[in-house]
Amino acid sequence: MKVGFLGCGKIGRALLEHVRQTGHEVGFVQDIFYKDPADFPVIETSDPKVYAGTDLIVECATADALKQNFDAMIAAADLLVFSLTAFSDESFLEHAKAQAVLSGHRIYFPHGAILGLDGIADARSIMTEASIETTKSPKSLGLDLTERTVVYEGSTRGACKAFPRNVNVHAAVALAGLGFDRTLSRIVADPAVSTNSHVIQILGEGIHFTIQVSSFTTGGVTGVYTPRSACGSLDRVLNNAAEYTFI
Ligand SMILES: NC(=O)c1ccc[n+]([C@@H]2O[C@H](COP(=O)([O-])OP(=O)(O)OC[C@H]3O[C@@H](n4cnc5c(N)ncnc54)[C@H](O)[C@@H]3O)[C@@H](O)[C@H]2O)c1
Repeated sequence: MKVGFLGCGKIGRALLEHVRQTGHEVGFVQDIFYKDPADFPVIETSDPKVYAGTDLIVECATADALKQNFDAMIAAADLLVFSLTAFSDESFLEHAKAQAVLSGHRIYFPHGAILGLDGIADARSIMTEASIETTKSPKSLGLDLTERTVVYEGSTRGACKAFPRNVNVHAAVALAGLGFDRTLSRIVADPAVSTNSHVIQILGEGIHFTIQVSSFTTGGVTGVYTPRSACGSLDRVLNNAAEYTFI
């Protein structure tokens, strides 16, 4: 399979290496800063000629980059999207769904920094409440605070607008469950932590789930777990799960 990349930073580099190790081919990298020597096309802006013949494009850049490049990419290939906050824009979500149908290509949502999206989606019809609380260092949220502070509380749609680089997991829970307006988000900046941690609460008719996930950060917005989980998601999309397949 031929895999292209929109964005090749922390997640993209882990996936690019994984594509090579699992015997697939890197079709292209589109990144405004990628300077490594490459035996595949490296482009900075959209180029449908380069996309042609690609089986899957992995977006791991930013929500704005996804929106800017979406139409040309979905016309060419299936998409695995990491910048899920882009879909908090209702008109973009509807547009994306329509373009996917029109092109006959799929949009895949990886579980990313959390887990259990399959179980949340399965409970959707009996779910009545969904909330997610994230605690990160102020630096990782782009803030300069010396005390533990609740920096956002409200709908997930508002959280995606306020912290588009930091709440992709909130967008994932909203997409899997009750949507961006009925999912509640709380974001806490805590100077004492060096982890990204998330507590998801799902309530419904006869169900109560609590999912708690914590992952150390090595700088930037992404914790150590996401590049690992991204490789698992890519394997499942490419149908190349090494030893076990969880569905
Ligand atoms: N779904 C999840 O659970 C989850 C978890 C962590 C991160 N993320 C998101 O995944 C994305 C990638 O994360 P990362 O840690 O790899 O980020 P990163 O900053 O390490 O890498 C992003 C790359 O995208 C490139 N880029 C930025 N704008 C671009 C543009 N307009 N066109 C082409 N390339 C562009 C940058 O040059 C960089 O190389 C971010 O949006 C991040 O918020 C999602």
